[in-house]
Amino acid sequence: MAGLVISYQPASNNLGPVPGEDGGPIRIRPMTEQDSENVANLQIEAFREKFEWAVGKSNVNKVSRAWGNGLRRSPLWWPRYFVAELNDEFGCHFAGAIVLGFYADRSLPEPNFDTNGLGCKILCGMACMEMALGEKPSDPSKGYVEAICVESKFRGKGIGKVLLDRAEYEAKAMGCRSIYLKVKRTNRAKNLYERQGYRVTKDHDGCCCTYCAVGVRHFYEMEKQLI
Ligand SMILES: CC(C)(COP(=O)(O)OP(=O)(O)OC[C@H]1O[C@@H](n2cnc3c(N)ncnc32)[C@H](O)[C@@H]1OP(=O)(O)O)[C@@H](O)C(=O)NCCC(=O)NCCS
Repeated sequence: MAGLVISYQPASNNLGPVPGEDGGPIRIRPMTEQDSENVANLQIEAFREKFEWAVGKSNVNKVSRAWGNGLRRSPLWWPRYFVAELNDEFGCHFAGAIVLGFYADRSLPEPNFDTNGLGCKILCGMACMEMALGEKPSDPSKGYVEAICVESKFRGKGIGKVLLDRAEYEAKAMGCRSIYLKVKRTNRAKNLYERQGYRVTKDHDGCCCTYCAVGVRHFYEMEKQLI
């Protein structure tokens, strides 16, 4: 039918168990308002090099605070953020997060970031970063992993894998046939993605624009078929 845009299909009724909700030590749940600061801090910490490059080392903490506040004030975006908790003998720890993107997000209003007092250098840096790395999925049949990060002290325990399992589950629930992500060519995380069944589909050379924005020029796009 001309003009009809299919951005969402009802979930298959056979998605299987929900990864991270099986009562095991790694629990995955949608983020809530209380997670805003933790999620923002974790994202900035995990990608600190890129943020320092974009806005300057001395400004990263300001960005982290603004990011946390922005997330708190953007509840429509919370369903795209999933948080990993690790339960061990010392208690329940905030351990990681994954951010997903779908075609349907195009109809959401932009996140409500408070830019007051950030200054020109930070705003320009963030805008360039968004231009270089920001991805708005343009294909309703593909889900996107915008970011995945685990607290450094909890890495190597399988949390990243469960977050990716959950991302696949959520993508299937949105009617997607595949899921994709971008990873710096030299990032060791590529091993994890390959084990998870992702394959390199594109070798991006962002040339000097991406390099100027975030200090990295080459990225792989990797994709996994879900059905
Ligand atoms: C990538 C990341 C989310 C994986 O989480 P995790 O809980 O450690 O993952 P798992 O325990 O399930 O799997 C271990 C795999 O994670 C990856 N990994 C572990 N430590 C890593 C690190 N410091 N940097 C990048 N990848 C790492 C590796 O692929 C590792 O497999 P390998 O030992 O065979 O190389 C986590 O390491 C991280 O937050 N890294 C920093 C942020 C980042 O690079 N994110 C990916 C951007 S595309």
